[in-house]
Amino acid sequence: MTLRDISPAVHDVVGIGFGPSNLALAIALQEQADAGRPLDAQFLEKQQQYHWHGNTLVSQSEMQISFLKDLVSMRNPTSPYSFVNYLHRHGRLVDFINLRTFYPSRMEYNDYLRWAASHFADQCSLGEEVQRVEPDAPHADGRIDRVRVVSLDGQGRERVRVARSVVLSTGGTPRIPEAFAGLRDDARITHHSGYLGWVRQQPCASGEPMRIAVVGAGQSAAEAFIDLHDNYPSAKVDWLVRGAALKPADDSPFVNEIFAPAYTDVVFEQTEAGRNRLIDEYLNTNYSVIDADLIERIYAMLYRQKVNGQFRVNLLTCKAALAAHAGAHGVELTIGSTAPTSASGIGQSGGADTETRRYDAVVLATGYERESHRRLLEPLARYLGDFSVDRNYRMLASPELAVPVYLQGFCQASHGLSDTLLSVLPARAEEIAGALHDALRPGHWATQPAGAVVSQAAAA
Ligand SMILES: Cc1cc2nc3c(=O)[nH]c(=O)nc-3n(C[C@H](O)[C@H](O)[C@H](O)COP(=O)(O)OP(=O)(O)OC[C@H]3O[C@@H](n4cnc5c(N)ncnc54)[C@H](O)[C@@H]3O)c2cc1C
Ligand SMILES: NC(=O)c1ccc[n+]([C@@H]2O[C@H](COP(=O)([O-])OP(=O)(O)OC[C@H]3O[C@@H](n4cnc5c(N)ncnc54)[C@H](OP(=O)(O)O)[C@@H]3O)[C@@H](O)[C@H]2O)c1
Repeated sequence: MTLRDISPAVHDVVGIGFGPSNLALAIALQEQADAGRPLDAQFLEKQQQYHWHGNTLVSQSEMQISFLKDLVSMRNPTSPYSFVNYLHRHGRLVDFINLRTFYPSRMEYNDYLRWAASHFADQCSLGEEVQRVEPDAPHADGRIDRVRVVSLDGQGRERVRVARSVVLSTGGTPRIPEAFAGLRDDARITHHSGYLGWVRQQPCASGEPMRIAVVGAGQSAAEAFIDLHDNYPSAKVDWLVRGAALKPADDSPFVNEIFAPAYTDVVFEQTEAGRNRLIDEYLNTNYSVIDADLIERIYAMLYRQKVNGQFRVNLLTCKAALAAHAGAHGVELTIGSTAPTSASGIGQSGGADTETRRYDAVVLATGYERESHRRLLEPLARYLGDFSVDRNYRMLASPELAVPVYLQGFCQASHGLSDTLLSVLPARAEEIAGALHDALRPGHWATQPAGAVVSQAAAA
């Protein structure tokens, strides 16, 4: 049964999702309140407990960004929410220094984020999944100055929050290749986002033999492949990648400058074609690429197999899973070659153009889509034009919608590659906090800037 709880309180800000983006915003809003400009902000998070990509935290996984690019330091190095203060509070500062690294494990970073989030427990409702954001009743002149954020709690009860503004930061959604679309509910298949919880339930976790396929050629696939090799010796693994070789992420220092906060302006000020060019040029900093040291490790792992003649894990390059059929005896993949002639090298195997292989399970490390904002904001779609945003991440809307709606993580096309990452969190949070304050200040009707809903590059 569905119970409707309509809260009479009207919040200045409702944040959807409480991952690093909205957590950074909560901190920036607290700083703003301390400076005498308070806003009442509430955040809704669908997870019951705070985790940062919790099912991907394999033991060997490390951060791909310096700990100095934490939630606050690049804006306010004196903030109590810095990674250094987290280390200090947990009595590990000296030990961490002795590690001599900029890149903590992702498990430790998860713990840092959870610690930071714990300071905002009274502002965050865990276990509530937002279903939609809908307009409240309009004024006589048609103006809408409130929205209703509708969520479901863990017991299936519907709850409604009324908000004067919304910041939507719901992250990516698993990308499932077309060939596997009909098998979403098959327990033998997982997207990498669910990997850890899934693999612990698999027969190989109790030492039983299994054949597992890993699909994808990015960091997630590499981490799953290594984890299966290191921790599940009864698993035979085929890693299917469409390309001819695993490629390293470019994290060299000059290229890394594209992740500086100032680079957001460089991208935003371009024409749409210019933005696309800048993004395409540097895709290999982030997508379909792997940390170079992990590639070295995988190469050495495959070489050792050549030495001892036992090939338990294999890298199959130029291979695409064209179709998948799940039956009583496993998941059958129809695998096509993506190359006219197959390459051969260490750990690689070519073969006929199409073949069928049977697996007990499949890990889809096939990346993420950024579409959930469109679904959640669908009831407002007629006011939101082409889902473009201004420089401060506010969606351009028709004048009737006097409710500012901000996006974090959906603006790569207009703001650059750092938008889906941790790189600019402190700066972006401050920009949005400031914009919220300006838009919601007393006597100011949160109206759209002149020229709203004009053509700008659509948000990613
Ligand atoms: C495995 C993995 C590792 C990564 N490592 C790095 C890294 O080292 N460095 C880096 O810069 N980037 C990394 N990234 C990129 C990643 O996008 C960012 O690190 C970061 O998570 C972005 O924060 P976010 O808050 O925008 O999104 P998310 O972290 O995805 O948080 C979104 C939150 O919204 C919640 N949510 C979703 N839908 C709803 C809903 N309908 N209602 C309520 N809550 C909802 C989710 O549960 C989640 O907690 C990684 C990504 C992955 C997948
Ligand atoms: N340690 C860490 O910090 C860590 C760990 C994991 C992930 N991450 C981050 O998370 C983000 C996502 O990384 P990711 O590895 O999950 O995704 P990704 O980099 O987007 O890679 C997805 C891979 O899936 C493949 N793919 C997509 N659709 C496919 C299909 N239909 N058939 C076959 N293959 C398909 C792509 O193949 P093609 O290459 O052929 O296009 C690509 O190799 C990145 O920002 C990454 O840095 C970080």
